[in-house]
Amino acid sequence: MSSTKKLYIETYGCQMNFSDSEVVASILTKEGYQLTEDIKAADLIFVNTCSIRDNAEKRVINRIQEFKHLKSLKPSLQVGILGCMAERLKENLLQDQKFVDLVVGPDAYRDIPRMLNESMGSRQMANTILSEEETYADIAPVRLDSNGISAFISIMRGCDNYCAYCVVPFTRGHERSRHPRSILNEAKDLVSKGYREVTLLGQNVNSYHWEEGDLKVNFASLMKMVADLSPLLRVRFSTSHPKDISDELIEMIAVTPNICNSFHLPVQSGSSSTLKRMKRNYTREMYLERITKIKSLIPDCGLSTDIIVGYCGETDEEHGETVSLMQEVGYDFAFMFKYSERPDTLAAKKYADDVPEEVKGKRLDEIIKLQQQNSHQSNLKDVGKTFTVLVDSVSKRSKTQMSGRTDQNKVMVFDSLEARLGQYVQVKCTHCTAATLLGEIVNYLE
Ligand code: 5AD
Ligand code: SF4
Repeated sequence: MSSTKKLYIETYGCQMNFSDSEVVASILTKEGYQLTEDIKAADLIFVNTCSIRDNAEKRVINRIQEFKHLKSLKPSLQVGILGCMAERLKENLLQDQKFVDLVVGPDAYRDIPRMLNESMGSRQMANTILSEEETYADIAPVRLDSNGISAFISIMRGCDNYCAYCVVPFTRGHERSRHPRSILNEAKDLVSKGYREVTLLGQNVNSYHWEEGDLKVNFASLMKMVADLSPLLRVRFSTSHPKDISDELIEMIAVTPNICNSFHLPVQSGSSSTLKRMKRNYTREMYLERITKIKSLIPDCGLSTDIIVGYCGETDEEHGETVSLMQEVGYDFAFMFKYSERPDTLAAKKYADDVPEEVKGKRLDEIIKLQQQNSHQSNLKDVGKTFTVLVDSVSKRSKTQMSGRTDQNKVMVFDSLEARLGQYVQVKCTHCTAATLLGEIVNYLE
């Protein structure tokens, strides 16, 4: 029997959390742990958690109850709760969940080895100290669930926007940027390993900045430096705040072939009065002006968004403005949510969560239906056109079908026996559904 301890990590929530789990995996493999996908074989179980909505937290609480049983079978098993719920609930999590050994906030992952040592012999421990500097810049992430083609690079942490509904500034702390050199080194390493797509990650990537002597880097120049590493590397980014999208950034995307033509630009609401209560710092008109600018400089740009319905005080008219904005922009894709009140946020303190659950449900159904039509419309416009697709998977339904993404971030499925994973192919779109483009290969590239 091997004496190597085994670590099982389960991750919930946003890409940032998945990226953090790769940092945690790196820290623990250096300590001699081996990763396992078999939870029953684990000596250590980590759950990296999300607090963005109440239902995300409930799901995690239900899931971790299942670990109690595993612990009764193997008393030496250690269980840790990481991420946003750890930060938000702190020691309370240890009190409520007696079988949990560690609670570790997003800026305290370097402390995990010490905490594990000290908690041996059943001492519960928490570290939820937030940092002004931590970016884990020097830690080379261990890629989890990787296809060897696309990877995420975290370029900054935290958020200073304090949108009224959002718990993130409380759970992930102040905004800080990572040194551009360590970002470039990580990207170079991925390129040398054959990766062909990186997504630069942050809560608000547009406010990335680094100044040190003569070195001045903003988000547009950072993206350009990453894109210049290899013409075969696709560069994407997530997430942008509409108030910070500069002309310089849009122009940079327009003129740089390997920075993908796709924007995820969360609007949250189409109503200026709702946006004001959300503290988003832009109006409907300002948002639409940015969209017009993007469409004029990058006519084939993919556009997606996040929308919240049923925010505090949202009237039928205000909701109608969200509907009309969706019609006006014609997003390719949208993530849509019912407002969920989060403790300690400005909205929780200042406004009543007064839109009835039933109304939230109706509004959500309405925009989901509309988005399905919009997605279908957008896909229909692509029929007949040819796209460069980065092949990233073999279809689950049929071994003769493969799929990949277009520059605009749409999924394209096509018949192929010859294409390689990680290869660029040109695919002519022949038909579509609301969710997918379907086509045939017309050319094999590098
Ligand atoms: N309730 C519902 N949705 C929320 N989001 C953030 N906070 C809340 C909340 N309290 C959504 C926003 C954000 C996305 C990541 O989650 O749309 O862009
Ligand atoms: Fe939350 Fe607003 Fe920061 Fe996004 S920009 S993480 S919505 S506070």
